[in-house]
Amino acid sequence: MRRPSPNVSLTEDQIRSFRENGFLSLPPITSSEEVNALRATFTRLFAGRAGMKEGAYFDMMSVEETEKPVSPQILDPINYAPELRYTQFRANVKAIARQLLGEEAGISLEHVIVKPARYGAPTPWHQDAAHDPRIDKQCSIWMPLQEATVENGCMHFIPGSHLEGIYEHASPNNDVRIHCLETQGEFGREKAVPCPVPAGGASIHDARVLHYAGPNRSDGDRFAYVIVCNVLRKGKPKERQFRWMAEKQTTRIARELAWQSRGGRLIEAARKLRKALYDPKRAAIKLRRLSEIFLKRA
Ligand code: NI
Repeated sequence: MRRPSPNVSLTEDQIRSFRENGFLSLPPITSSEEVNALRATFTRLFAGRAGMKEGAYFDMMSVEETEKPVSPQILDPINYAPELRYTQFRANVKAIARQLLGEEAGISLEHVIVKPARYGAPTPWHQDAAHDPRIDKQCSIWMPLQEATVENGCMHFIPGSHLEGIYEHASPNNDVRIHCLETQGEFGREKAVPCPVPAGGASIHDARVLHYAGPNRSDGDRFAYVIVCNVLRKGKPKERQFRWMAEKQTTRIARELAWQSRGGRLIEAARKLRKALYDPKRAAIKLRRLSEIFLKRA
C-alpha cells in the first residue's frame, strides 16, 4: 500500500493561536471517503471488542466491562487493522505535529473512542499530562468520524490552561477502579469553550490544556479517532508516577498484566520492532535518548 503525502499545513496564525490557547480547530483534514472507511473499520473492531484480552479495549467510565459500555475505547487500533497505517489522516497528523512541536515530533500512541447514541457518557475535565510525568511536548489530534456537536459530545477546552502547570487529579468519585481521571478543585470551568468540528475535521490540544467532552444525547454513535504525537524528552523526569495513577486498580490493567505474562511481551516486542521499521527516524531518536540516559548513569 502507498503511504499518502501530507496535504495540509497550518498557517502562522493557527500556530500562534495553538501556542496561546492550547488548542485549535481545523476544517476537514481528510476525505469523506476515508472518514467512511475509518468508521467501518472501527465499527468492526468495536463489535469484536478487539484487544479485550490484552487490555487494549476497555470502557473508560465503568468499573468493569459490561454488555452496554458507556464510553468504550481501543488503544492502538492499528494493531488490529493494519490499513490504518496508510491513511491521509496519519500523514497530515505527522506534518501538523512537526509544525507545532518541532521536527523531532512523531506518533506516540493512538486510540479510538465511541460514545454510544443517547447514553454515551461525558469524559470528565482533565489534563492528558496528568497521566504520566514523562509527558513533555505532546499534542493530540482528535478527529470525529461524523460531525461533532455540543449535543453529541464535542470537545471543550479552557483557553490558556496549558500554561498553568499540572492540577491535582483523582479518579471520578475516588473510585480507583475507573480508568479515567478528573481534575480536582477550582480551575475556571466557566471559561470553557466548546469546539464543534465537521466530520474529518480536527480539534488539536496540548497535553496540558484542561479539556472535557460532553455526553452523547444524539441519535447517532459519536466516533473520535485520536492520534497523540510527542517529542521524546531528554533525561529522566523527577517523578516516576503521579499518585493518582499509582493507586489505579482497573480491570484493564489486570487484563494487560495477565496477557503480558502469558506471552504478550513477545507480541509487544514484535509490534515495537514493526513500529521502528515503519518510522526509523523516531526509532533512532529513541535510541539516542536511551543512550544519553545510560551514559549519564555510567
Ligand atoms: Ni484527554
